[in-house]
Order: sequence, then C-alpha cells, then structure tokens
Amino acid sequence: MPNLLSMNNLENDTIMSLLKRAGEFQQGERAPIDGTVVNLFFEPSTRTKMSFEMAEHHMGLAVLPFETAFSSILKGETLYDTVKTMEAIGVGAVIIRHEEEEYYQQLEGCKVAVINGGDGSGQHPTQSLLDLMTIYQEFGRIEGIHVTIVGDIAHSRVAKSNASALKKLGAIVSFICPEEWSGDYESSEHLDEFIETTDVVMMLRVQHERHAVSALFSKENYHEQYGLTVAREKKMKDGAIIMHPAPINRGVEIADCLVECERSRIFKQMANGVYIRMAVLEYALKGRD
Ligand code: CP
Repeated sequence: MPNLLSMNNLENDTIMSLLKRAGEFQQGERAPIDGTVVNLFFEPSTRTKMSFEMAEHHMGLAVLPFETAFSSILKGETLYDTVKTMEAIGVGAVIIRHEEEEYYQQLEGCKVAVINGGDGSGQHPTQSLLDLMTIYQEFGRIEGIHVTIVGDIAHSRVAKSNASALKKLGAIVSFICPEEWSGDYESSEHLDEFIETTDVVMMLRVQHERHAVSALFSKENYHEQYGLTVAREKKMKDGAIIMHPAPINRGVEIADCLVECERSRIFKQMANGVYIRMAVLEYALKGRD
C-alpha cells in the first residue's frame, strides 16, 4: 500500500489528484472504507491528530486508540516493533508523528501503510497538501503564485514540505527569517521587501521547543522585525492572503487582531485539513491516485 512520507518524492500528478479528491470530499462526497487505522502520536498535536480523527470518522474507518503514556514504548519497545505489532493485528494504516527526523527509514519492510504526520524538523506532507489546497482554491492555480514563507525556517517541517511542493508546482517562493534560521535556503531578513507584492504571506510558528529563541529575540523584537504587524498587513496587495499552520504565538509571528482578519485563511486551512486527510487515507488504504 502507498506510504505518504515526504513531499519530496510525491509526483505533481499525485499531488493534484489528492487536491481534486479532497475537493470532492469537501463537496459532500462520501466513500467509506472498510479498514482499521491507528494514530501514533509521539509529539503533541491538536490540528493534525484531531483532523485525522475527523477524517477517519467521515471515511467510516475503525480507529484503535493509542496512548504513548500507556503503551509498551515505555518498556523500551522500538517504533519498528510497535508498527509491526499494528500490522500483525490487522491495522491497514498508521499515522505517525515523531520527534525523530526521517523516523520512517527504520520502518522499511513494514507492510502497513505509513502516513507521516510530522517528523521532527523534517517533513509534514499532509500540512503541505492542505496548504496547497487552500492556495489552489484561492487563486485557481499554483503556478506563478508568489508565496513568502516567514519565520523559523530551519526548524520548520512545514516550510520544508511547502518549499519542495510549491517549487515543483511552479510557484515563486521567497524566504524571510533571521540569518540563524535560514537552514539550507537563501533568505532575506526584510519582510518589507516582499510585503507589497506577494500573493501569500505564510507565517511560521517560532518553535520555542526546538531551540533557545529567547536567547535571540524578545517577543516584541521578533514581532517588530519579522512578524506580520498591523502596519505590514495594510501594505499587502488586494487579494493577497495570510496563512499560518498553527499553533500560533499570537503577538509574536502575527498580530493578535490579524489571526481572523479578512485576509486570513488560517481556519480555512484547518477545515481543508480534514478533506485532505480523507483523500490521503483513501490513497494509502486503497492506492487511489
Ligand atoms: N499544524 C499542525 O501540525 O498543528 P498541530 O501541531 O496542532 O498538529
């Protein structure tokens, strides 16, 4: 069965097919699957975990509960053995969020479908797909759309997944961040250079848990230098939109009052996440593309 591990090796045709199928689910199509899945979340999550659960509910799937704190992981069981156990008892797909980048390399040989719900600072393919769906629905295309990704790029699996997918699909991608957080990307420190011309401002969460941000910036300094302030939003062109994968540090990467402003598609992204995850579950369990 197909895995979904990274946007790097997903063909454009498959991406567009998943977006189309998600759109059909959004329009009310239902295509129940007779199968069982497990959500294995080893890192905290609200959106990804809950929207997978909602998608699983809509797809008529049986979902086995799994709590890391009450699992044999605490007795030293490996991720491989946990996933092989799921396979042995008849699970069709596992959705995994894990702090280790490319944790899925150790699962080679497992027959159960693996859907990556985020691997450390690596990839977050279902977030990228829901972001692409949001952009596509807004502009009717992805090719030629200018997306400015702003913030903690080096630590962001969202930035990496989206950079790869957006470029493949012909979008123009710019990166804005403090020099220390640019990772492998050529970036600028000046959001003001792009704010008047970009179609999409994609703000990223400052990942406090992955580094000592407080050593670099106060909240106020970060907001002033790299954040989407009220003054910057006023300079955005007509029709330009604001995105953020959330969770949000309100008042740090984005002004509190902009989170639900007219340009914001932040909650639309979350809604689209359910339909994308329905399409991904179907792809993984039935091999549809
Ligand atoms: N965007 C996202 O992955 O959110 P969660 O960490 O809440 O799942």
